[in-house]
Amino acid sequence: MEQNRRRPRTGKTVLITGGSAGIGKATALGLAAMGARVAITGRNPQRVHAAARDIRDAHRGEVLTFVADLSSQSEVRRLADEVQHALPRIDVLVNNVGGYWNTRRVTVDGLEHTFALNHLAPFLLTNLLLDRLKVSACARVVTVASNAQAIGRIDFDDLQGEQSFSGARAYNQSKLANVLFTYELARRLRNTDITANALHPGVVNTSFGAADPALVQRWLVPFLRPLMKSPARGAATSIHLASAHELERVTGRFFANSQPKPSSARSYDEATAARLWHVSSRLVGQGETVEDTNGRAGVEGLLHEKVTDDLVGAPSPERSSRSLGGVRTGPAP
Ligand SMILES: NC(=O)c1ccc[n+]([C@@H]2O[C@H](COP(=O)([O-])OP(=O)(O)OC[C@H]3O[C@@H](n4cnc5c(N)ncnc54)[C@H](OP(=O)(O)O)[C@@H]3O)[C@@H](O)[C@H]2O)c1
Repeated sequence: MEQNRRRPRTGKTVLITGGSAGIGKATALGLAAMGARVAITGRNPQRVHAAARDIRDAHRGEVLTFVADLSSQSEVRRLADEVQHALPRIDVLVNNVGGYWNTRRVTVDGLEHTFALNHLAPFLLTNLLLDRLKVSACARVVTVASNAQAIGRIDFDDLQGEQSFSGARAYNQSKLANVLFTYELARRLRNTDITANALHPGVVNTSFGAADPALVQRWLVPFLRPLMKSPARGAATSIHLASAHELERVTGRFFANSQPKPSSARSYDEATAARLWHVSSRLVGQGETVEDTNGRAGVEGLLHEKVTDDLVGAPSPERSSRSLGGVRTGPAP
């Protein structure tokens, strides 16, 4: 990635979930080095504050910290309130938090943990922060998915893995959900200046999966660690999507190694994406159904006001027929 092709982030505000460690912390370091004002989240106050100190020591910029367990919907809502109180605008939201757990866990909301944390948390947080994103001239939502999306399936008959659970299946499903969410968000925001893209960071040497690894991970990961990307290299695509000037108007795309790449055929299924949006709206506790500009039912409750404002906004000609550097905007067929 060439530094001079990145958009200077000076004065830009970037919120990164899971900025206390791993790829998220490296993303915060990289964007702070470019002059961004970064805000990071994590569960543990000591770890978040230690990460903020490291970022300030390295780059002297302003670093804001927020503490929230994003597996809990009330914590996501509290985080959104605190963020809106502290930040008058957000230029980039990096939905980075996510992980792998081998055994089935249930969140305080009674939901399967991997689905709740990896998919529902970014779904809810993004929708709650849309007003702050709209304040920015050209805001970006960057969601860290994974190549695991390629083998994921959305099992609407058993989304929570109640009938049959596998950690790998739950993870793959959640990462496909990240991509379906990104493409659906891009469609719903197509008349706004907010873009939405997803990415695969590579196989990165972090604490990923360490809390509850599968047997194969226990055995293989120690041997594979030397071959994995460093967190700094793993953060490169997130930083690119958050900052590259040429991506200012590119939306609804999947990236790896800072290049656009096709995601799985399933990820382009608009009926699945709309259904997932609808089900996710219900699972985050919003029941009222409204229609988007395609006449599909799906944006609900609190998402209603925020998203329908965008959906009924005046179409912007530049965004409806753009093509930049060979990357057409909107999800590929
Ligand atoms: N590492 C890889 O090879 C790889 C490959 C493909 C995709 N990814 C994706 O990359 C993203 C980042 O992964 P990583 O490898 O950097 O993982 P990591 O080293 O485990 O870091 C995860 C971050 O998320 C935070 N976090 C975890 N659970 C949380 C919760 N319940 N509430 C709030 N924050 C929570 C952690 O904060 P605290 O623990 O400090 O609270 C930490 O800051 C994930 O979405 C993952 O799926 C990773």
